[in-house]
Amino acid sequence: MNKKVILITGGAGFIGSHVVREFVRKYPDNHIINLDALTYAGNLENLLDVQQAPNYTFVKADITDAAHILALFRTYRPDGIIHLAAESHVDRSIESPLSFVTTNVIGTVNLLNAAKDIWQNDFDGKRFHHVSTDEVYGSLGETGLFTETSAYDPHSPYSASKASSDHFVRAYHDTYGLPVVLTNCSNNYGPNHFPEKLIPLCINNILSNKPIPIYGNGKYTRDWLYVIDHARAIDLVYHKGNNGESYNVGGFNEWQNIQLVEELCRQMDEKLAREPGTSQKLITFVKDRPGHDLRYAIDAGKIHRQLGYAPSVSFEEGLGLTIDWFLSNKAWLEHVTSGQYQQYYQKQYKK
Ligand code: NAD
Ligand code: DAU
Repeated sequence: MNKKVILITGGAGFIGSHVVREFVRKYPDNHIINLDALTYAGNLENLLDVQQAPNYTFVKADITDAAHILALFRTYRPDGIIHLAAESHVDRSIESPLSFVTTNVIGTVNLLNAAKDIWQNDFDGKRFHHVSTDEVYGSLGETGLFTETSAYDPHSPYSASKASSDHFVRAYHDTYGLPVVLTNCSNNYGPNHFPEKLIPLCINNILSNKPIPIYGNGKYTRDWLYVIDHARAIDLVYHKGNNGESYNVGGFNEWQNIQLVEELCRQMDEKLAREPGTSQKLITFVKDRPGHDLRYAIDAGKIHRQLGYAPSVSFEEGLGLTIDWFLSNKAWLEHVTSGQYQQYYQKQYKK
């Protein structure tokens, strides 16, 4: 292979599949390797439209298996790594913290070691891009924004594991000179979003007339970004970001959960030609998430000023596109909500 090789981990997941598609289509002269263990969250149906592309290869592998990862790196010799593979759901991290440590911390260190091994201090044209989250900064009060210099203050096992992985990535830059960049992004939404997360869970429940579970009083606030705009930001930082630096990515688009769900209900009623107010009747306040962060909001000024980034999709448009995608992809939704999902759902919401 003479083409530049970019290895993307977690490419069968929600965000990863959009990143893989963006890179496969935009960079025909690069070879894109999608390395994914295909956990419950990984789904090759997300990538049917690129699976035959000549510059795309899928490799099933687990980032916690250090020997296998090293062998794959020695075979494919990636010039760049974009690392998204992770356990990503806060509620699952509360039930099973250790699997988050194993995948998110040890898995990341395995990738760093493999990159260090194959690059051997020749870092010209090389890059390790770690995809992280705004949750590492903890929770904001009613005002303020997270900047790249905000102190790390994670509260859930998920965010603690992501914070730890961020520290390891920076440590490999400072100690071994590994050429790294990091992005810390706010809540994504869009096509292929797994229905354990708020927006797709609500869409799924509205479609099947099931209660919409709102944790606590519903006044928790998140900053929502359309997933394709996250993929664009990753492309930009991967190619143009400064070594050793991190970039916050967000939509300047804050919503209280309850207000967002009410808007979603309104749009769903419209699209399903249901009587206005039908879906809203499904809203049910349930037991709060332990350690629930009140508010996340990103100051995305640095990526805007330095790299010219701005989201391209408004929230109104993005939410409409998302609902339309779920309505046109009911088979996808059925596949991912059968089997294991039912057991997860019973356990999580019948407490
Ligand atoms: P996801 O759960 O939808 O997908 C994760 C992917 O990683 C899946 O394809 C899964 O099979 C794969 N994976 C999990 N464990 C693995 C392992 N041990 N080895 C190899 N592959 C493994 O997650 P997502 O929402 O697409 O998030 C992707 C990344 O972006 C994560 O690192 C997450 O922390 C980060 N992030 C997510 C959001 C968000 O709103 N979803 C926001 C900011 C950052
Ligand atoms: O901020 C970025 C993070 O966003 C990512 O790092 C995570 O991977 C991603 O899962 C997401 O985390 P959140 O915890 O914010 O997302 P979630 O969709 O689980 O929840 C969004 C909000 O909705 C949060 O305040 C909890 C609430 N919620 C969630 C679920 C699943 C409910 O009220 N009811 C629910 O059933």
